[in-house]
Amino acid sequence: MIKNIQRIQKEIEAFRATSREEIEQFRVNFLGKKGSIATLFETFKEVAVEEKRAVGQTLNQLKTLAQEKLDSMKATFKEQDNAEKTIDVTRPGEPTRPGSRHPLSIVRNEIIEIFARMGFAVSEGPEIEDDWHNFTALNFPEEHPARDMQDTFFISKSPDILLHTHTSSVQVRDMEDQSLPIRLVTPGRVFRNEAISARAHCIFHQIEALYIDRGVSFADLKQTLDFFAREFFGPTTKVRLRPSFFPFTEPSAEMDVSCSLCGGRGCNVCKGTGWLEIMGCGMVDPNVLERNGIDPEKYSGFALGMGVERVAMLRYGVRDLRIFFENDARFLEQFTAAGF
Ligand code: DAH
Repeated sequence: MIKNIQRIQKEIEAFRATSREEIEQFRVNFLGKKGSIATLFETFKEVAVEEKRAVGQTLNQLKTLAQEKLDSMKATFKEQDNAEKTIDVTRPGEPTRPGSRHPLSIVRNEIIEIFARMGFAVSEGPEIEDDWHNFTALNFPEEHPARDMQDTFFISKSPDILLHTHTSSVQVRDMEDQSLPIRLVTPGRVFRNEAISARAHCIFHQIEALYIDRGVSFADLKQTLDFFAREFFGPTTKVRLRPSFFPFTEPSAEMDVSCSLCGGRGCNVCKGTGWLEIMGCGMVDPNVLERNGIDPEKYSGFALGMGVERVAMLRYGVRDLRIFFENDARFLEQFTAAGF
């Protein structure tokens, strides 16, 4: 019996706890209901009467030893806990860096602001559209290959519900909702099922402008484009129009600006031509006016649409548009816009 007591005493003295779990294990092993000290007390009944006094004393000492050890281990851990909780007020703070506007937002806001100076108000439309607003009301004939020009993400078939492939769909909503004259600029995110590359993405941004009134002419469109190009790219920027085709405009054109990176001399961004394509535009097709309840005998209008990524690439000399979507802080923190 005494030998057992001594062995357990040694075990208690040698015990070192490295975690709370080990302290609990110590309590269970030595002081628990089925622990080794309880077992010793059990066998104490069988100790011979003349030894009871001495053995009893050592047994009680053993129990006290275990209890004291437990208490002191608990106390040490509590101290450590408190030390962790105290705040070191002398530590230098962690700076929170101010965010900056995304380059696409900077460019979008600047374009809108230029159009606002010409009297255009902002309108926005849904990204999820039906066939009517994205195609049919814009004079895309049924089964016409022009619909393939824009690889569409369909959400459902019959009725066709889709992610709008261009902000031109908002023109239709504007014609439905607004009273004439209409002079609106529409920023939006558009979607096309295209392979992602340095020049194309399946999600990108466009800005559309629509002006409908009595007597709006192609000269008004040209003047608007000229003003926009000089305001955005600088006063020496030249503009040229090339004939093109869009189902919703007649005549249609594509607009190039003189390359702002090389000043029109030719560089690898403008592929040596000195010109950069910026947008599609044209006079609103009379069919479109008619489909949207506007009398083409009385009213005429122009429309234009440009890609924000493309304009931002030119403004900042960015060669790969994928970088706009990667949210890399090292890229984004380089952009600051005064006043936007
Ligand atoms: N919606 C055309 C596209 O995404 C761009 C466009 C061309 C818009 C001519 C217009 C326009 O408003 O008149 O390719």
